[in-house]
Amino acid sequence: MFKDWLGKIVDNEDMTRHDKWLCMMTPRLKLLRELLRDDGVIFISIDDNEQHRLRQLMDEIFGQENFITNIIWQKKFSPQNDAKYFSDNHDFIIVYAKHKYQTGETTGWTRNLLPRTKNMEQRFKNPDNDPRGKWSSSDMTVKRVTPKDIYPIKSPSGKTFYPPKGRSWSISQKSFLKAVKENNVWFGTKGSNMPRYKRFRTNVQEGIVPVTVWLHNDVGHNQNAKQELKKIFPESETPFSTPKPTSLIKRVLELSTNKDDIVLDSFAGSGTTAHAVLQLNKEDGGNRKFILVEMEDYADKITAERVRRVIKKGLGGSFSYFELGDPIEMESILSGKNLPSFKELARYVFYTATGEEFDESELDEKHQFIGQSKTHEVFLFYKPDLEYLRNTALTLDKAKALGKLNGKKRLVFAPTKYLDQNYLDQYQIDFAQLPFEIYKMKG
Ligand SMILES: C[S@@+](CC[C@H](N)C(=O)[O-])C[C@H]1O[C@@H](n2cnc3c(N)ncnc32)[C@H](O)[C@@H]1O
Repeated sequence: MFKDWLGKIVDNEDMTRHDKWLCMMTPRLKLLRELLRDDGVIFISIDDNEQHRLRQLMDEIFGQENFITNIIWQKKFSPQNDAKYFSDNHDFIIVYAKHKYQTGETTGWTRNLLPRTKNMEQRFKNPDNDPRGKWSSSDMTVKRVTPKDIYPIKSPSGKTFYPPKGRSWSISQKSFLKAVKENNVWFGTKGSNMPRYKRFRTNVQEGIVPVTVWLHNDVGHNQNAKQELKKIFPESETPFSTPKPTSLIKRVLELSTNKDDIVLDSFAGSGTTAHAVLQLNKEDGGNRKFILVEMEDYADKITAERVRRVIKKGLGGSFSYFELGDPIEMESILSGKNLPSFKELARYVFYTATGEEFDESELDEKHQFIGQSKTHEVFLFYKPDLEYLRNTALTLDKAKALGKLNGKKRLVFAPTKYLDQNYLDQYQIDFAQLPFEIYKMKG
């Protein structure tokens, strides 16, 4: 029904909206899954128009068993009074692991706990210099009437306490006496307050378990995000109606990444993800890297420019900006239409065949040399000229002219060859015919 590759979107009148949506999303999601590490995770923000479709498609591509959760993010803080039915105040963030961690397995995604807040930490003090460290106190009564747990407690200053009406002490008298002996009960600095139980910081879980409802006062809302953008781009209106606040993406990163991980955002928009990565790195000394992909014209002027500006304004870090060239269609070489330049094809075949980085400065077009991989010197006999392509073959003369062997084999791309296997072996040549055999060497 739809083609399983990027860019090939089938569009005809018989297709339903749902079919078209599938054609667009399926290849993208499959590719994103391919790009994930085995212990990686994907967060997708989506609104109510599409979340049901996305869940179903994600179940197919990632497997229902790898579904983690569906977070609700409160994107607006006040009701939209002109809403026809309901004021739409939330979005969803759907989370799938490439492979959910199961006990006993060596790989798979597990979430991080969230860092404890300053407020939470400030509750822990040590007014009695307890050698066990900081503690906070908690109520020692419970809401129930258990006659045997309603007993008098005498404070060090001599005051007698009972639980308030309708409540009992939370522990038996025997446990209470033990707790006092172990210095786990606190009657206030003057020893005359209602008793409370000491909870030591060292016994408290290091982080916070994330919940599935993310409120705007915790992670920001759309309006915050717009204000953030306005601050970065005071001179212009940015074309985004629903940017994400940096704090929202930072929450995602805190839950999903370790300090050296790579974060990919394939729908980068205003570049919030890079901003959040740099901010979190600055806060926790991390070295996370980001890759942003944006297809619109504003990729340089907004997406990348935001990152340049926040780096300059103190977040530090660096990045490189690349624009994709025209796609190289192998069929076009055959048909002779839109033939790529030598350099473009060199880059493509070198990378596709070797899987290694192409270094433009190594190119020597005159000698058909396009670079060397760990195992091969790579040559390309090509010109963007049909006549040349029809009449060019790897011959004995050309094989000899490749130069002295330097311990590596040769990989030669050419339209055809007039050499048999013996000669190829003698000159250590692996031959790859253009345009179909460029995949031959990979792996
Ligand atoms: C809703 S915006 C993302 C907003 C972003 N989270 C922010 O905070 O600004 C989605 C972006 O994805 C881009 N986009 C859509 N399809 C794309 C594709 N196939 N490849 C790259 N970018 C794409 C759009 O141009 C748009 O800028």
